[in-house]
Amino acid sequence: MEAPLLAPSILAADHSRLADGLIAVENAGAKWLHIDVMDGHFVPNLSFGPQTVADLRPKSDLFFDTHLMLDNPQDYIDAFIDAGSDQISIHVEPDYDVETTLEKIKARGRKAGIVFNPGTSVDSLEPYLKKVDLVLAMTVQPGYGGQSFQQSVMAKTKLLNDWRKESGLSFRVQVDGGINLDTARICFDSGVDTFVAGTAFFKSSDRTRFLETIESMA
Ligand code: DX5
Ligand code: ZN
Repeated sequence: MEAPLLAPSILAADHSRLADGLIAVENAGAKWLHIDVMDGHFVPNLSFGPQTVADLRPKSDLFFDTHLMLDNPQDYIDAFIDAGSDQISIHVEPDYDVETTLEKIKARGRKAGIVFNPGTSVDSLEPYLKKVDLVLAMTVQPGYGGQSFQQSVMAKTKLLNDWRKESGLSFRVQVDGGINLDTARICFDSGVDTFVAGTAFFKSSDRTRFLETIESMA
């Protein structure tokens, strides 16, 4: 299991001042920035596009962890990689060629993640586990920040962690949605090593302390 790592989500920043949000993430000591991309079809909300990533890219060396909540992520891989994404995570639920899309991300030298929603069976991920650097278990139904953590997902992260150990694979297990200091501990104890936090991070009175508390869990 990798050392715990926090990926603050820029979705929860002030969208009229995204560069300030990026700097706040950097100043807190984060190594990753989580960028939530929403299409208004796969999820009932709209957020950022490749231009947002391209404009943030020159302002920071942070690892851009890009979460595509799109019906057709295969059509946007080049655009987000050209814009500066370091990792692209795609959902297993929509009807497209997941394997080819993961291979395309890797062929362009970036990290690849597979994502599933709370109600999706982890069995659907099995064909891809050897091809990914990260598995993202959504702990809310995606679309909006500030939702409540779904503890039932922990049975799935425990199973993923068991599979990871049994198979000798080294993908990260990430969670996203309703993550705060309390739910992060629950997740860590359920095999999770990578944590997306938007609302709890940006609302924290001491973001560095928030990050250090998560990244020092043992
Ligand atoms: C899907 C998004 C959110 C966001 C984090 O809706 O992926 O989960 O990143 O949400 P909060 O604000 O709950 O940390
Ligand atoms: Zn996300």
